[in-house]
Amino acid sequence: MLESRLIVEGGRKIEGEIRVQGAKNSSLPLLAASFLSGGTSVIHNCPALSDAYAACRILSSLGCKCKREQHSVIVDSSDADGFAVSDGLMREMRSSIVFLGAILGRTKRCRLSFPGGCELGPRPIDLHLEALKKLGVRIIEDHGVLDCTCGQRPARCDITLSLPSVGATENIMLYSALGSGETVIYNAAREPEITDLGGYINKCGGDIRGLGSSTVVINGVPELHGCEYTVMPDRIVAATYMGAAAATGGELVLSGVCPQDMYSCMSIFSEMGCGVYPYTDKIFINAKKSLSAVRTIRTMPYPGFPTDCQPIVMAVLCRANGSSMIVENIFENRFMAADELRRMGADIKTEGRVAVIEGVNKLLGAKLRAADLRAGAALIVAALGAEGTSVISNVRYIDRGYENIEDELSAVGARIKRI
Ligand code: UD1
Repeated sequence: MLESRLIVEGGRKIEGEIRVQGAKNSSLPLLAASFLSGGTSVIHNCPALSDAYAACRILSSLGCKCKREQHSVIVDSSDADGFAVSDGLMREMRSSIVFLGAILGRTKRCRLSFPGGCELGPRPIDLHLEALKKLGVRIIEDHGVLDCTCGQRPARCDITLSLPSVGATENIMLYSALGSGETVIYNAAREPEITDLGGYINKCGGDIRGLGSSTVVINGVPELHGCEYTVMPDRIVAATYMGAAAATGGELVLSGVCPQDMYSCMSIFSEMGCGVYPYTDKIFINAKKSLSAVRTIRTMPYPGFPTDCQPIVMAVLCRANGSSMIVENIFENRFMAADELRRMGADIKTEGRVAVIEGVNKLLGAKLRAADLRAGAALIVAALGAEGTSVISNVRYIDRGYENIEDELSAVGARIKRI
């Protein structure tokens, strides 16, 4: 099969309004949680992305009835009793590991293959497994397969995460939501997507408190039911479009967003010299002045600067006046956009977890390869602000996180098409 490419003609201002899609990183755990609920859920604002389709295939393989009507996914898990996820389905998306807690919580047994590494480097799940063991789950690892069965769950279980892992927090919440016993997670992830997952489980009849704080308390309930729920907006997609406006000297209104989830990103764009104005569910950004370098950016767990926005901001900083530094603290292999940006004329030096970006006057269009989802999005941002035409390959990575990115950007004045 021939792979599609994106052809981007740079140098055109982005101007207009974009309605931001639902969050990928929230919709996947929500879909997993719909298996746990044991009823029918209608999940609105679920982005039409390959990972969300893969999650639905996993749900169907477990015996759920799963149907999509535009951006709403209807999952009926009342008769589902599957407990094994095939290796093929597990490999379709790395975040399939979030099914572990949901399946165990519902069927008390789970077999799935180890998710392995990904483009960002090793993606260990030791914290997920340690926590589940503490909750009484017996886990046998054999040739890359995890075979888990539930034993006696303690009446109260305190889990202190050595780092606030998003996935581990989600799996512990999912596993502990149904049944008896109280689970307290210390140093829990505080990401808005965690609050969204907890919001869904609570709407299904669950009892989870402390969402958004670093201590999350889950009281197991004897049963859950389905509900109707709307996935939160995708803050990384919103930041990507902010990057597109900044890189092209344009102005955008992003609608359907939660500005309060995006302060760390908004403040970086303001520091670059953009006008950034949050309203209730909108962000207005303009980039009338030339951009300036920023103080050191350090990626951190929420509410710090998100690692997923780092490549996008790097792409914008390539043309800012002065030199900027980025320290990547979350994933070790997350400067993959840098090599491609250099092909466009960017001056970026990386060493270990540090990147130094010396702003240049212009970037030139080039043949580029998306190395992962956000690195790919960063290349689009850079190409929109570059002189000449860029051809971006490996678009399938970008498609994992962005719904019709070329249509969204074309509608606000970009010259971008898929071939
Ligand atoms: C989620 C997001 C991803 C985002 C990341 C950090 C989804 C589908 N993905 O990924 O887009 O970049 O949060 O905001 O929601 N770690 C361990 N052991 C573990 C678990 C994690 O060492 O058991 C390490 C990881 O290697 C990484 C760090 O902890 O260095 C953060 O990982 P984690 O928060 O778990 O990220 P994900 O849930 O995988």
